[in-house]
Amino acid sequence: LLLAGHGPAAAWQPDRAIRVIVPFAAGGPSDTIARIVATEMSAVLHQPVYIDNIPGAGGATGVKRFLEEAYDSHTLLVGHMGTHGAAPALKSDIGYDPVKDFAAIGLAASTPMVITVAPKLGVKDLAGLSVLMRTRGSEMHIAHAGQGSVSHAAAMLLQSSFGTTAALSSYQGTGPALNDLLADKVDILIDQIVNIAPAIAAKRVQALAVVGSRRSEILPSVAATGELGFNVEMNAWNAFFAKKDTPPDEIATINAALRYALNDPRSRARLLDLGADIPDDDAGTPGALAKLVKEEVERWAEPHLEIRR
Ligand code: MLT
Repeated sequence: LLLAGHGPAAAWQPDRAIRVIVPFAAGGPSDTIARIVATEMSAVLHQPVYIDNIPGAGGATGVKRFLEEAYDSHTLLVGHMGTHGAAPALKSDIGYDPVKDFAAIGLAASTPMVITVAPKLGVKDLAGLSVLMRTRGSEMHIAHAGQGSVSHAAAMLLQSSFGTTAALSSYQGTGPALNDLLADKVDILIDQIVNIAPAIAAKRVQALAVVGSRRSEILPSVAATGELGFNVEMNAWNAFFAKKDTPPDEIATINAALRYALNDPRSRARLLDLGADIPDDDAGTPGALAKLVKEEVERWAEPHLEIRR
């Protein structure tokens, strides 16, 4: 005889399709990572998992729509180091609280940033870029994915470390920003490796440096900024969120599906081939993501970064 209230609670299972809001344009890094894991998440959740791109305002438009429209874990959000880290420091009144308004589900991938330029500039290294940017001032254009985005944070850091004043061109994501770099409409893009690696491999853009202290395994000939004397530390990451106060069984189900997807050989290979770092079991928990968000918000708020408006 089974008595109600005894034994483990039944695991939550979705009973219809899961909508994943990606707050940037299709084709960019957030979208690419979300689509890679969504396929395998769907297999284990036994429901379709579909991507809904709602770009604008450096991610804030999609994040706010998520907060308005998510009632349970049938609607999820992909946030990143911009929307859930740098945004409060980069613009005033983002309209949501990255720490308090969400329930962390899990980290999907960490993605090193790469400083790239249009080949027509003829620039071969970071020192050359800094000279050119100083000479040309606001005639140079840096593309980014909107105020508060990862690429915007990177652009601000580059300018403050060089002391330059290049013009900033805003896009709905670095998918469209990369298209304009390839079309020679802008000069510079600092982007997550997963978006830019294929264009680097095809020599359609010139990679000058990987941001941080170590090189990327997929770009062994590209120097790390740390080797070049630029002590800029920033590592982008993309993660899944539900709304705050989401019951633990719902979070556990979605986290398990995400972990399954990240351990699947096909999605793993696709992410690794694009240069992403996949979190291990410890880094992949909801608690680890909640801690990361808090640390990033605090880190970006430090005044020494001198990137406030
Ligand atoms: C960013 O710069 O924040 C991202 O690249 C956004 C995107 O996924 O397009």
